[in-house]
Amino acid sequence: MSKAQSYFECLTCSYQTVKWIGCCPECKSWNSLDEIVTTKVDAKYKAAIQPDKHLFTLADIKLEEQARITSACSEWDRVAGGGIVPGSFILVSGDPGIGKSTLLLQISTQLSPKHTIIYFSSEESLPQVKLRFQRIQKTTPENLLFSDQSSLQAIIEICKSKKPTLVIIDSIQNVLNEETNALPGTISQLKESAFRLMKLAKEHNIAIIATGHITKEGTIAGPKLLEHMVDAVFYLQKEDQWQTRTLRSIKNRFGSINEIGFFHMKGDGLQEVQNINQHLLEQTKNAPGSTLVSSLEGTRPIFLELQALTIPVKFGIPQRIITGIDHKHVVLIAAILEKYLHIPLSKHDIFFKISGGLKTKDQTCDLGIALALLSSYFQQPLAGKTIALAELSLTGQVKPIYNIDIHAKECKTFGFSSMIIAQDQVLHKQDGPPVKRISTVHELLLFFPAEQILD
Ligand code: TYD
Ligand code: MG
Repeated sequence: MSKAQSYFECLTCSYQTVKWIGCCPECKSWNSLDEIVTTKVDAKYKAAIQPDKHLFTLADIKLEEQARITSACSEWDRVAGGGIVPGSFILVSGDPGIGKSTLLLQISTQLSPKHTIIYFSSEESLPQVKLRFQRIQKTTPENLLFSDQSSLQAIIEICKSKKPTLVIIDSIQNVLNEETNALPGTISQLKESAFRLMKLAKEHNIAIIATGHITKEGTIAGPKLLEHMVDAVFYLQKEDQWQTRTLRSIKNRFGSINEIGFFHMKGDGLQEVQNINQHLLEQTKNAPGSTLVSSLEGTRPIFLELQALTIPVKFGIPQRIITGIDHKHVVLIAAILEKYLHIPLSKHDIFFKISGGLKTKDQTCDLGIALALLSSYFQQPLAGKTIALAELSLTGQVKPIYNIDIHAKECKTFGFSSMIIAQDQVLHKQDGPPVKRISTVHELLLFFPAEQILD
């Protein structure tokens, strides 16, 4: 037996109160309080719990090896950590219109003859889903069933009776738990729906993929709230000028995080871009201020073209306009160059970006940032197809990076003529392009023999 109780929680700052109030006293947001219904477990239930029944030694725990559910889409499988794990609960989130429904419909279609799949479209009507389906595929797949049910109880009952391998819930914000009065998409509805669906996934070994929008209120009332409850969270984003959609794993209990998949939105759905590095290199020109680096996203090295522009300040405070990389990081490397090479970057405006509007946080780009700044300052491109792979310390030392062999292999594949690395970098495999080793930032000047400074 348990007693139901309720309280109110602010969606913005999590302030709690027993009575509803229009304006949150903590963060001053209006209409942000949402009712949360809780139940208190009584003493009889607690007394009935037998601790020994619920505790196991490692030897008692049985492992069941289950094959992952793989699709024909290798970019999806890569992000999922090699395929969907049966009984896992995945959240795919992103802005409205980014392509979540399209992607999941394509994945379902590819898996359908082998597996039973139910697609719950609570957001769009079934004729709308059919229209989308006709855009992406002409032949009707077997074992792929559609439903416009949005009731949580109905979804659970249908799944229990049909026992599909995979269930798509599009979207979780539209799922309605009939047992509470709250509107779909509210904090209590979302949490309750996610909890019950997780239970369904684990108890019946059904993989569930739910979509969730990033809401206007920010990330609080949206899918961010659910991230700790689910097994994996993938973000579908549009990052660059080429309209490439990136699917990134933010959390994955069954695979590596930050794994990234690339897609292009075409007239007939999302098309995977398997060879993204080829695509990125095709856009690159050997020009002053441009340097190539490699950044590890999950397990895959991605080439990035760093672009710098340094211009002497005519008046006022120098500008630092930096996108795609931490602003402070570029400023710090400019300071290292000024200190040890006496390059007066503090008297220059610095404009810095990553080509294509891509972003990185990888420390492997340090040397590339320094070379891009110097290359713009001296108005000289780096010779040949060169890549820079090292970290810089505040003392002006060039430091080795982790996973150099993965980068080196990719550089070899794409025909780089040289790789600038740290003096004491250990290469376990000798399958990369020829290397140039340097130990301090002073040696960077060797790459710009005909120094020609733009004033
Ligand atoms: P959708 O999958 O509905 O996005 P989400 O579920 O994330 O809201 O995709 C919507 C956009 O994708 C819409 O602007 C139309 C476009 N689109 C294409 O360009 N090609 C296609 O084949 C499909 C199905 C959609
Ligand atoms: Mg959708």
